[in-house]
Amino acid sequence: EQIEKGGYDHFMLKEIYEQPHAILDTYRGRLLADQGIIRMAGIDQHLEKFVNANRIIIVACGTSWHAGLVAEYIFEDLARVPVEVEYASEFRYRNPIITDKDVLIAISQSGETADTLAAIKLAKEKGAFVFGVCNVVGSSIARETHAGAYTHAGPEIGVASTKAFTTQITILTLMALKLGKEKGEFSESKFHEYLAELENIPAKVQIALESNPLIEIIADVYKDSSNCLYLGRGYNFPVALEGALKLKEISYIHAEGYPAAEMKHGPIALIDEQMPVIVIATNKGHYEKVVSNIQEIKSRKGKIIAIVTEGDEQVKELADHVVEIPETIESLTPLLTTIPLQLLSYHIAVMRNCNVDQPRNLAKSVTVE
Ligand code: G6P
Repeated sequence: EQIEKGGYDHFMLKEIYEQPHAILDTYRGRLLADQGIIRMAGIDQHLEKFVNANRIIIVACGTSWHAGLVAEYIFEDLARVPVEVEYASEFRYRNPIITDKDVLIAISQSGETADTLAAIKLAKEKGAFVFGVCNVVGSSIARETHAGAYTHAGPEIGVASTKAFTTQITILTLMALKLGKEKGEFSESKFHEYLAELENIPAKVQIALESNPLIEIIADVYKDSSNCLYLGRGYNFPVALEGALKLKEISYIHAEGYPAAEMKHGPIALIDEQMPVIVIATNKGHYEKVVSNIQEIKSRKGKIIAIVTEGDEQVKELADHVVEIPETIESLTPLLTTIPLQLLSYHIAVMRNCNVDQPRNLAKSVTVE
């Protein structure tokens, strides 16, 4: 097992560090930036299904559901198609309205999650076109769907999902760009700008990983907290949810993710000097509004850990700790902002002597209801 961990103390840390490579493997052979093409067999063969879709329904569970939420922003923004994101377990039992004009995308690392599989079967019965985004080749979901795309992230052993999440977002971004281009939703130059920036992402993830020593210091300050709040807006709202889930899963600290603007409708009541608040405050997407949320936290003496874009000045003045990530296109920021949150939960869990790779009561793949 030590050999399999490749010199890392835990599979989770190894998998966090594998992300630059895993993302590259996900778009390798699909993203042909110099030719200005995205090639994805599963979509190319069924392009009319996607182009003519009235809406896209995304079903998933856990971390994959969070990737689905990011995809909702990406698909609506880039491909201008309405998207609904559903917990597979809720969707399958609520007599959902599904037609043959719907495309259902099932996202699953393992390809074996029972609820997601059941949602797929239901959608197929009702005539929808079903597309799978899976990591495990030949898995049940991969076999049950009409078409699909593998993430090619390599085996994920740690129960807390890391590289599966970022590679799912990568695939879904490629899909949205391809569909948006096909539908003529943006200019050729914008399309090229996206493709070029996607190619920069592995190197930028690598830079984000360099904040690891700083995050270890921050983890040491907050390792004994009982609660933690994660805030983000827009594309980074699902990242806040995912950050909170990671902390809960492996450190057993109660954590909640919230859209930053919703703070005033509840979580603000919890903020005092004991409450660490992790805020994603990158320079695009409502930056000024997030800054004012940070001011509200500060005036209630909450401890602020901010994830900012490199060179940020304003948030630095307010936050207790600042972690920088490289600049990128707004819709690609989740691929970077998620990295420090993964590392933070990892270090806190290690410092609390938790079983990082196999947290209590959790399974890597939930094949029963
Ligand atoms: C379990 C795992 C999570 C995962 C979820 C969905 O809860 O512990 O890490 O996100 O299942 O799994 P899937 O394989 O469908 O992505």
